[in-house]
Amino acid sequence: MAVPDSLKKRVSELRAELKRHAELYYVQDSPEISDFEYDQLLRDLAAAEEKYPELQTADSPTHRVGGAPREGFVKVEHSEPMMSLDNALDIGELRAFYVKMAQALGMGSVQVLCEPKIDGLAVSLIYEDGLFISGATRGDGRVGEDITSNLRTIKSLPLSLLEAPAGRLEIRGEICMDKKGFAALNAAREDAGESLFANPRNAAAGSVRQLDPKVTAARKLKIYLYQIVEPQRHGVKSQEEMLETIRRLGLPVQGSERLCSNIEEIEKYLEEWTVKRFEHPIDTDGVVVKLNDIGLRSMLGATSKAPRWAIAFKFPPEQKVTRIIDIEITVGRTGTLTPTAVLEPVHLSGTVVKRAILHNQDDIDRKDIRIGDYVLVHKAGEIIPEVIRVEKERRPEGTAPFLIPDRCPVCGSKAVRLIGESAVKCTNRSCPAQIKEGISHFASRSAMDIRGLGEKIVALLVEKEIVSDFADLYRISENELIPLGRMGEKSARNIMEALEKSKKRPLGALINALGIRNVGVRTANDLAEKFRSIEALSETAVNKTAELESAEGIGPVIAESLRTFFVEPHNVHVIERLKDAGVNMVIDTPAEAGDDLPWKGLKFVLTGELSSMTRPEAAEKIRALGGTTSDSVSRKTDFVVTGEKPGSKLLKARTLGIDILEEEDFIKRLTEAQ
Ligand code: IVH
Repeated sequence: MAVPDSLKKRVSELRAELKRHAELYYVQDSPEISDFEYDQLLRDLAAAEEKYPELQTADSPTHRVGGAPREGFVKVEHSEPMMSLDNALDIGELRAFYVKMAQALGMGSVQVLCEPKIDGLAVSLIYEDGLFISGATRGDGRVGEDITSNLRTIKSLPLSLLEAPAGRLEIRGEICMDKKGFAALNAAREDAGESLFANPRNAAAGSVRQLDPKVTAARKLKIYLYQIVEPQRHGVKSQEEMLETIRRLGLPVQGSERLCSNIEEIEKYLEEWTVKRFEHPIDTDGVVVKLNDIGLRSMLGATSKAPRWAIAFKFPPEQKVTRIIDIEITVGRTGTLTPTAVLEPVHLSGTVVKRAILHNQDDIDRKDIRIGDYVLVHKAGEIIPEVIRVEKERRPEGTAPFLIPDRCPVCGSKAVRLIGESAVKCTNRSCPAQIKEGISHFASRSAMDIRGLGEKIVALLVEKEIVSDFADLYRISENELIPLGRMGEKSARNIMEALEKSKKRPLGALINALGIRNVGVRTANDLAEKFRSIEALSETAVNKTAELESAEGIGPVIAESLRTFFVEPHNVHVIERLKDAGVNMVIDTPAEAGDDLPWKGLKFVLTGELSSMTRPEAAEKIRALGGTTSDSVSRKTDFVVTGEKPGSKLLKARTLGIDILEEEDFIKRLTEAQ
């Protein structure tokens, strides 16, 4: 089928628009449209490309979603070694470098370009005829790793250049994560009970060196370029011109560079940056001072490791000694008991620091941190106050090693550290610190599916002490609901109906709803299949742990989570009350007419090409099991099934946090449900 001319025109307009908005957002930090509108444009483009594959191009913005995970990184030899830089650790060393360089050139003074030194991960990019072809990490300087697929997911990296220099262009720079993105990533990881990245550099490196580009795509990485390889071939004569050229090509340059003509000007720049760096959005660990004239550089040459025409002035790290007055334990959303050192207030990197997170017991033990200790503190990534080490020689008499308690400080239930985990967690799902989140999860679509019971209402129910555990939900009356958030009678009735309906949810949904650690939707369904009742599951978890551990797909971690959950008397009591309320606890509830199809009520969206069947065939199978399919992803979608070359629906699904099924998963579920 020939592509209509009008569509060709629309596709090129869409690409131009998407490129412009990506530039405004990622390079200039001044977006003109919302993320949602951006996704809408991207979706239109993906739909056109999906319909007419001949419209696809290597540099289409739709390729940013991230391809399939790869087996391992392929090694690539750099055309020219990626060198490192010698360091100047104080002003004296910097002066010596400058004087030596000027003397070697037989000049009294030389012009240098000063640039902030980005604390990130060095990369080398290859463009051919203006199109992004490949990219690699620095590696050992001679051989790096091919990270092309991951680089494609970085939105500020243009897949095609504004000007297209003929032939090959190799350009180098740094990948990093800005401080805001780093803080958000760590906050999300903390919520998910995952380990935290120590600083933006580690977070960026961890995100780039991912075998699955989808993980990289989900991280907000930035890239800044500062070096063109073989500059003279591109008519570039100075570092100043180099940055101008990079900008002109449409590639991001960090900015803030300054041309300095003597040592006094350099010192002024360094002084400014020693302070400015704290407010700068990106982590910088120094200033790079480079001989501006590229022709002169070759007269100086390089050592085996670093060029003689540049040096990195390293900022003195801000570290101060203060005292730990107390160690407090807070209970987070997932029940993690987090120890926080309460410090004697200290000025550090631009703010007054009063508290420092101590991460976990291992961190405390390794550093031997005790209440009353004098400690050296700094801000990891210039943001997160952290204890570096204890000044042991100043330790007062009578201190004792600190242990995270084995009882939750909020509800008094047992707190345990599960095998293979670093966090100590409260075992009581009805702990007030966790109640709201737990109830929202209980009511969610893949759990008890209590429509209308949104987060705001849950919060009000908990705050007004109407509900303090899952079972209380089934004792709410319409009259209690109506005054909440000025709810209408109709909304209250809808919630009551949804609650009633939820009592008939399948066993797998109930097991998922209980929010047992390490037990997600899939494991919950497997457990339901295997044990067929809560009673049998609980009995095995408590009394036949070995049997549970050896069951397929379970293993020691999940078995221990189940045991911990089912031995807690509070949880047992909640389950009994749920049963009394009429909640289904077995797999063979007599189905109501029409309710016997396993995927009844589930909404699917299909994207990309499946290898084992066509999309209409997949849709047919979903319908046969009671599910429905739709063309667009919304909050109501339960699952997005992805095949090869998924479109923007996948991006939307990820944005909305909808469950994504790869083909293999989808087929497994199909087989199980049939
Ligand atoms: S120029 C020949 N400029 O610092 C070396 N490097 O410690 C060319 N870095 O490997 C490097 N910001 O990864 C240069 N503005 C900047 C930089 C910078 C960060 C990194 C780079 C390099 C390392 C050396």
